[in-house]
Amino acid sequence: MEETDNLETEERKFRPPDDFVKNANINDPEIYRKADEDLEAFWRGLAEEIKWFRGFDSVLEWEPPHAKWFTGGKLNASYNCLDANIEKRGDKLAIIWEGENRDIRKYTYGELLEETSRLANVLKGMGVKKGDIVTIYLPMIPEIIISMLACARIGAPHSVVFAAFSGEALCTRIADAQSDLVITCDGYYRRGKLVEQKKKADCGLTSCIKVQKVVVVKNTKNDIEMREGRDVWWHDLMRDAGTVCEPEVMDSEDMLFLMYTSGTTGKPKGIVHSTGGYMVGTHVTAKWIFDLKDDDIYWCTADCGWITGHSYIVYGPLSNGTTVLMYEGAPDYPEKDRFWDIVERHKATILYTAPTAIRTFMKWGNKWPAKHDLSTLRLLGSVGEPINPDAWLWYHENIGSGRCPIVDTWWQTETGMVLISPLPGITTTKPGSATLPFPGIRATVLDENGNEMPPGKDGLLAITRPWPSMVRTIHGDEERFIETYWTKWDRNTYFAGDGAKLDEEGYFRISGRVDDVIQVSGHRIGTEEVESLLVSHPSVAEAGVVGKSDEIKGEVIYGYVILRSGLSGDNELKNELIDHVASNIGPFARPKRIIFSEELPKTRSGKIMRRVLKAIANGRETGDVTTLQDPGVVEELKRRTEENGLI
Ligand code: WT7
Repeated sequence: MEETDNLETEERKFRPPDDFVKNANINDPEIYRKADEDLEAFWRGLAEEIKWFRGFDSVLEWEPPHAKWFTGGKLNASYNCLDANIEKRGDKLAIIWEGENRDIRKYTYGELLEETSRLANVLKGMGVKKGDIVTIYLPMIPEIIISMLACARIGAPHSVVFAAFSGEALCTRIADAQSDLVITCDGYYRRGKLVEQKKKADCGLTSCIKVQKVVVVKNTKNDIEMREGRDVWWHDLMRDAGTVCEPEVMDSEDMLFLMYTSGTTGKPKGIVHSTGGYMVGTHVTAKWIFDLKDDDIYWCTADCGWITGHSYIVYGPLSNGTTVLMYEGAPDYPEKDRFWDIVERHKATILYTAPTAIRTFMKWGNKWPAKHDLSTLRLLGSVGEPINPDAWLWYHENIGSGRCPIVDTWWQTETGMVLISPLPGITTTKPGSATLPFPGIRATVLDENGNEMPPGKDGLLAITRPWPSMVRTIHGDEERFIETYWTKWDRNTYFAGDGAKLDEEGYFRISGRVDDVIQVSGHRIGTEEVESLLVSHPSVAEAGVVGKSDEIKGEVIYGYVILRSGLSGDNELKNELIDHVASNIGPFARPKRIIFSEELPKTRSGKIMRRVLKAIANGRETGDVTTLQDPGVVEELKRRTEENGLI
């Protein structure tokens, strides 16, 4: 790839290679101007790529902050991912799945349609009706995709709960969604170790009386308890199920799924996505940003339990008829070259992964990718957190051999689709920048008062025009929806919760969350969720939780804890608190450090100032602390943070 020096900023830039440009799905820069000039015409044209049972009446109805897209249109998401591909691609592979133990399962589009239809019939037979929310608690096995598509087929919104969440976290989400059917499995392997998924689910379900039925996939064949009347085996149900199921005719604005994500309060938010806008948005962004072609083997390493898996493993790629590669396990099992071994054996052409993974690979060293033939790769992607220029360049050189464009894609659970990213056949990239808004997207950087920030100045990322796959509401909490995203400035302007700045060419550099959300290895964790768990422990009186930046994980969790009077802390108690959080949320939320303290930085009204704690944890200047009840606490906390020896 051509590299040009930019002396002014001493930054390297990478122009898309000529042959990539020539063959790219989209390579005419005019598209930006066209989309911006007539937003509705732009999306109207693109919506034609989706199969509608009934055409829509209008492209956009925007009553800030409520958008309706493609109103009056009728469609079905599973139809668009499956049936729509059958004629041309019935025998083409839809999924290539590799288990951690190297088992391989493959599904053609025809087979995936059949399995999906069978499960759809099963669910209908169990009484699931259009509008009922089904909870899916499965690891990365093909059944997770089949389950999602089967729900979509019958118009039952799915709520996928990441498999590594605890039973308690599962229960909170089931209760909020008012879901009465759960699909899970006996167990799965992670780094060769059995995770007893059904047992975890059972724990959570004891306090979730609403659940009437649990469908269990037999995956690892470990011993489990099947509760009479509630639990049923997937394979028993599927055996006699009919292989044809008419897709439910859904309205464009009907809910396709719910996805829980962390926010600034303890309670996770159920982000509601609709059907028409979501399908158009994910279909088009997948096709343009990943430049999907019929002979691609596309691998997104995310988990279907998060939005990336929904948009860019399932709905986006499958609606494009892509062959999707799917891996169950860990990147270092059995060895640190597992990803490269997979790329080589399956001849992957596109790889979409997270900065935290890239930094980990960097640490492991070049020798691991160097052992493998990665020459099939033609495009690389990054998502989940800011990618530092070092990691970007390492990825570019060691995985892409300097030849593959990198798409650093900025988006969120709430945005549903990528909003800021290069188009690989058009955009000159700069390491560490997600570059420019997707055609039709208007983004900017504002200060607290809504003034646009000049280039080079830090501010807040704002999206100033609606887009098709935008969040419609927070399930059961419309007020929180408006309050969280649409009141920072005005009701036309979406507050993303991220800090950002522009460069002279209008390229975005996104620095990460500015709210009380911590991004650990790309997993979003709310500070208050962790705090409320810490204070639920009998030894803890108060807790303040913040993110500390970390070379590999982006951020790690630091918990500052005041113990109940009379108690003194030791390492054992620290470990106990760390385990308490990990077992109640999931291992990915394990705090890195617990720091005991007599006091926390508080305002005069008694509110913990996380801003100050965060500065202390990161060894930064604390700034103005005159509003603190006791400014002296800062020095004490700094000292304790610097103390080594303890965890
Ligand atoms: C937050 C959203 C959307 C996929 C996975 C995460 C951060 C995401 C980037 C990027 C800088 C990024 C932001 C955002 N983020 N992609 N390319 N550059 N930051 O989804 O769990 O909803 O988290 O991830 O902080 O707000 P999510």
